[in-house]
Amino acid sequence: MEYRNLWNSAFKQREKMSVTKESLEKRINNSAFGEETKELLKECIKYESYGGMAWALFSAVPVAERASGSFVYDADGKEYIDFLSGFSVNQLGNCQENLTRIIQEQAAKLTHYFDLPHVERVKLSKKLCEKSKISVPTKVAYGVTGSDAVELAVRAARYYTGKPNILVAYGDYHGVTYGTMGLTSKGGMQQNFYPVTPDQHVGYFHMPHPYRTPNEKYSGHGMEAIKNLERGLEGKETPYSDYKAGLNNVAAIFVEPFQSSAGYYIPPVDYLRELRRICDRFGILLIIDEIQAGLGRSGKLWAFEHSGIEPDMFVTSKALGGGLPISAVVAKEDILMRWAPGAHVSTQAGNVLACAAGNYVLDVVSEPEFLDHVNEIGAHFRAGWEALQDKHPSIGWIDNLGLYTGIEFVLDRETKEPAIDLTTYVLDESIANGMLFEKGGYYYNRIQLIPSLNMDVSVMDEAFRRFDAILTRAEKLFL
Ligand SMILES: Cc1ncc(COP(=O)(O)O)c(C=O)c1O
Repeated sequence: MEYRNLWNSAFKQREKMSVTKESLEKRINNSAFGEETKELLKECIKYESYGGMAWALFSAVPVAERASGSFVYDADGKEYIDFLSGFSVNQLGNCQENLTRIIQEQAAKLTHYFDLPHVERVKLSKKLCEKSKISVPTKVAYGVTGSDAVELAVRAARYYTGKPNILVAYGDYHGVTYGTMGLTSKGGMQQNFYPVTPDQHVGYFHMPHPYRTPNEKYSGHGMEAIKNLERGLEGKETPYSDYKAGLNNVAAIFVEPFQSSAGYYIPPVDYLRELRRICDRFGILLIIDEIQAGLGRSGKLWAFEHSGIEPDMFVTSKALGGGLPISAVVAKEDILMRWAPGAHVSTQAGNVLACAAGNYVLDVVSEPEFLDHVNEIGAHFRAGWEALQDKHPSIGWIDNLGLYTGIEFVLDRETKEPAIDLTTYVLDESIANGMLFEKGGYYYNRIQLIPSLNMDVSVMDEAFRRFDAILTRAEKLFL
């Protein structure tokens, strides 16, 4: 094919993925929202980029006006059960009283101090190290967003090891800044930025998942994916090694412990154990992205704890700031001690308000009694979904640990054919019936449910009644 044609085909693909003012207006007009919300959505498309998440995750999304505990209220005052939690940020519920008070009090004392030490930041650094679950001394470096911390961790790994390559799992999400784009191996995301090569030194492997085993029509990957990764580090047929020279070019294996944005996929516990073994064998750093799965969501403080391994470095963000932007890299101290002063800086990194909030959030979500409660209500949540699965054949698989839950919809349990339209219907109807969450999945056939870690079980039970009715209608239409 000529280059000109290749370019044209790339632009044609972009066109297929884009939306128009008319198509968005249609989605707004067809929604079940009240007039105020519809007007605001129209204002939104008048002034904001169409590239935002509102039009990717939802047909149309409620315009939030306020929120409290496990509920969000839109501009017309309609109530939604919040299974989004600001995309895994509001771990303690919306506008939690103590957190709000702490932020207000801190705002009256000191709000910003550049990327320099202040009382709340020093406290938070100590706490993060003490609660790192890494058994050797650790150190912390701060960023603002999750992507920021991911970039920082990659730079630290390359600086420390002097090696260029980073290996990540297909389906992982690590951000979409230009520095992180290469680590986020999602065709749909990268498609928007062709023909830029986001990172020249990133390699990929598959994450195993128990539901979609190989040799089936919609094939997934078992632990043999990790055997293949190891094989690629042994010989001389990959950019990562040369057998005879004993050469190894890999700075780090950088993974999510569970794949969150992809659809809340939980791999077998052996996944991280095997990666740890491979890293130890070849002298590679293991970096875990705890940005979404961490901070109590899975019933343990850090998701990597389920595998009983220790990473060399991990990144955290989202829930840490209790709704304010902050991110942090926590690493074995040798890695972060090598850097010369000034090697990393960002004006808003380690912001005072976010650190004050972080100190409170971290105290709460690391309490053993709090985590026991997450596991207790997590079991209730799982049981509720299992009861729905007994009744509704479209529920093919439930991934769940604590309050980390992904639900996979299929047209047929035997073939596991993805139920894409049914999933979209379930989300649209759920929003119309006052429930807010997102959809995902490798095949666009999953929903991710992210309740606050203190959601009342009566709220969950009400949600199950609504899900039951919606699934009954959906299965009549699509199965
Ligand atoms: C696991 C993971 N890593 C990194 C990021 C990027 O964080 P941010 O959107 O704050 O840049 C996200 C965001 O969803 C995430 O879920």
